[in-house]
Amino acid sequence: MSETIAQMQKKIIELKKQKDICILAHSYQAREIIEAADITGDSYKLSAEAAKVGNKNIVFCGVHFMAETAKMLSPDKHVYLANMGAGCPMAEQMEPEMIALLKAAEPDRKVCAYINTTAALKTVCDVCVTSSSAVDIISKMEDKKILFIPDCNLGAFVQRACPDKDIKLLQGGCPVHNSVTANEARMAKEAHPGALLLVHPECDPRVAELADYVGSTAGIMSFAKKSSAKEFIIGTEISIAEHLQYECPEKKFHILSKKILCPNMKLTTLPDVYALCQAVGTSEADKNEIVMDDELIRKARVCIDEMLRLG
Ligand code: 13P
Ligand code: SF4
Repeated sequence: MSETIAQMQKKIIELKKQKDICILAHSYQAREIIEAADITGDSYKLSAEAAKVGNKNIVFCGVHFMAETAKMLSPDKHVYLANMGAGCPMAEQMEPEMIALLKAAEPDRKVCAYINTTAALKTVCDVCVTSSSAVDIISKMEDKKILFIPDCNLGAFVQRACPDKDIKLLQGGCPVHNSVTANEARMAKEAHPGALLLVHPECDPRVAELADYVGSTAGIMSFAKKSSAKEFIIGTEISIAEHLQYECPEKKFHILSKKILCPNMKLTTLPDVYALCQAVGTSEADKNEIVMDDELIRKARVCIDEMLRLG
């Protein structure tokens, strides 16, 4: 007979102790994975915490660029991604060669990369940001001229918050958040007239304009928890509405659209995490290990360290 969720979670907790494993899970992961994890949060929190983990092994539940960031911050540890098929299409949208050319054409414009980028792309960037740290970090930069890649919606959000900066944008972004239209946002507001609309800055600026709050995953969660309002429409990955409903049963959470479901974030299952924890310490885990050469880590880390220094 197959094991129940609770039995698997119990065994994962035992395996973590036996094999010195720390599980990091992004907030877009399913509830049963969040419950078995040691550290959960948005991409900024996970990057900052990855640098401090004391365990020999890190099992990452999220998408590839996040595990890669954890490896760069903890190069001496074994970092594993629970499901190796979980990528982020936005991270792959731009080639380092193209950004290097743009940099050479305008050397006084600093390149600011959203953390949702590959390590190879990070090597040609000056500073990295996450959605929760972008405005803070860019406003702290002395430079006025910035090329923001790859997400033009997040870049436009930063430009609105930092009007003194000259931010150049390219056409990139998250296909999941960007799929929602302003019309759908208006319809959701009409369907739930008493609810506040909270959206992620990866959404179209015309959707963000209709929102009562625009912020990162962590920002949305903390706004909803602290707010005296009782009803919310959540304009980010649908698992956030589920987690908030679980944590705040006295409030009501609606999803903005069924389309904001990240298929990559949803690839990881609790059985994947269980199987990987069983495999850690054997060659079976090799296929899930993030392996990067030292030179790539050294070059790509520069912009991550700059983010942690300014953030
Ligand atoms: P956060 O920076 O809010 O964690 O978002 C990461 C992400 O992939 C959003 O789509
Ligand atoms: Fe990438 Fe969008 Fe999924 Fe976030 S929600 S991991 S940006 S595809």
